[in-house]
Amino acid sequence: MKEIYLNDLNIELKKLLNGKWIESDSDTYIDIHSPLNNSLLGKVPAMSKEEVDLAIESCKEAQKKWKLTNIFERSEILYKAADILEEKIDELSELLIMEVAKDRESARSEVNRTADFIRFTADTAKNMQGEILQGDSFKGGTKDKIAMVTREPLGVVLAISPFNYPVNLAASKIAPAIIGGNTVIFKPATQGSLSGLYLANIFQKAGVPAGVINTITGKGSEIGDYVVTHPDIDFINFTGSSEIGARISQISKMTPTLMELGGKDAAIVLKDADLDLAAKNIVAGAYSYSGQRCTAIKRVLVENEVADKLVEKLKEKVEKLVVGNPLEKQVDIVPLIDNKSALFVEGLIEDAIKKGGKLIVGGKREENIVYPTLIDNVNEKMELAWEEPFGPVLPILRVNNIEEAIEIANKSQYGLQSSVFTENINDAFYIAGKLEVGTVQVNNKTERGPDHFPFLGVKNSGIGVQGIRYSIEAMSRVKSTVINLRK
Ligand code: NAP
Ligand code: G3H
Repeated sequence: MKEIYLNDLNIELKKLLNGKWIESDSDTYIDIHSPLNNSLLGKVPAMSKEEVDLAIESCKEAQKKWKLTNIFERSEILYKAADILEEKIDELSELLIMEVAKDRESARSEVNRTADFIRFTADTAKNMQGEILQGDSFKGGTKDKIAMVTREPLGVVLAISPFNYPVNLAASKIAPAIIGGNTVIFKPATQGSLSGLYLANIFQKAGVPAGVINTITGKGSEIGDYVVTHPDIDFINFTGSSEIGARISQISKMTPTLMELGGKDAAIVLKDADLDLAAKNIVAGAYSYSGQRCTAIKRVLVENEVADKLVEKLKEKVEKLVVGNPLEKQVDIVPLIDNKSALFVEGLIEDAIKKGGKLIVGGKREENIVYPTLIDNVNEKMELAWEEPFGPVLPILRVNNIEEAIEIANKSQYGLQSSVFTENINDAFYIAGKLEVGTVQVNNKTERGPDHFPFLGVKNSGIGVQGIRYSIEAMSRVKSTVINLRK
């Protein structure tokens, strides 16, 4: 693997600093192994605090010039980056398969989706306008007072991405940040950092000037606190677990943040639902990429009257999911990112069964492969009812009525998305209005895209709103210049 993917690009063991891939001063490296077969894929530097300081200083300096460039000029660089991504799809998707165990279709779709995201970001920025306000609509105001409202970049944006979308969830921070005139310190998840560095290399090859994107590698548990509290970071754009998000939020004090965190998305199935449609969406939503998606369906709340029928349909589909190594064939269930994650999922399954949950399918683990698991009769005393497994296990909670479904859905600490399956539009709107989540999907699985839609979590699922225009707005601020005309 090393020869093909990394030596070719000459980025292994290196960091992107001020427009050059240079050797890190660190004498400590982190080995990146594949979750598929434990093979060594490469090494990234565990950067020192001094190196972090240099990276941030370089971004700060570069931002002075970058913010003065034209949006058209920035857009051309993004279009080029999107083109290179597409050219490199074979290589990059292989790397995603090896590094984070994506199945081939999902890996390719992540790369294509990212290219589309980057292009749409450029298009959107070119079409964003400021506004002019006249003073006479407020009591005592006058037509002679005019506010010219424009947008300014924030400065140096710290982009921290998770392991599960190492390319997409990095680009969806970097592209809106730089199109808005910010510079970016990019810290990829350690497992996923080779793919992240590959992406940074693409931006550099596309013509991003020196210092506009610098990379930081190293374990979040070691270098994270230092980076997020650095005085020269102007904005933190973080995607990852609620636990780390809460920590960053606590210690970063006055630095503004955009956070997309964990979820426990519920699929609410009413007695009048199209059960075939519901079953198809629930299985796709719960098990794709082995459930390692923030938006995966992580619990089903189904009305008693149709619970048996739904379980039967789900069982049929879950039994057909293909488990295996994505290098060998197209699979539905891939190995989890590491053994620790698989053990955690296994613990949740065991707890549910011990407390009376009925195992319908699966329940088996082999190292980091967890077989797709469906558990019925889950109740509120079981950890599986509340914890985010980030694995291929789906609990079914039977409910008496709509009110009970809403109550249990809202008891969660999370509030990312929810699905409602019903043929009754009034019930759909009623439930959507009551759910404490960022997005409600009517008759579909929970999912982030299309990527220009607003994407947000409430409660412990996030702070702020992503989505192309929303991300550009989040990483810029309004500037108001008031003209007072002579009378
Ligand atoms: P994670 O463990 O929270 O890590 C996320 C990122 O934070 C990684 O880059 C990690 O670096 C870094 N990090 C760790 N400790 C840090 C610290 N003290 N300061 C600063 N950064 C630190 O999450 P994950 O396991 O990669 O991803 C899975 C989680 O992300 C799930 O909970 C999932 O729901 C959530 N997620 C949410 C969304 C969303 O849009 N809502 C999208 C995707 C994933 P290291 O890798 O070096 O530790
Ligand atoms: O893991 C979290 C991602 O933001 C989810 O994106 O719904 O397209 O899989 P997705």
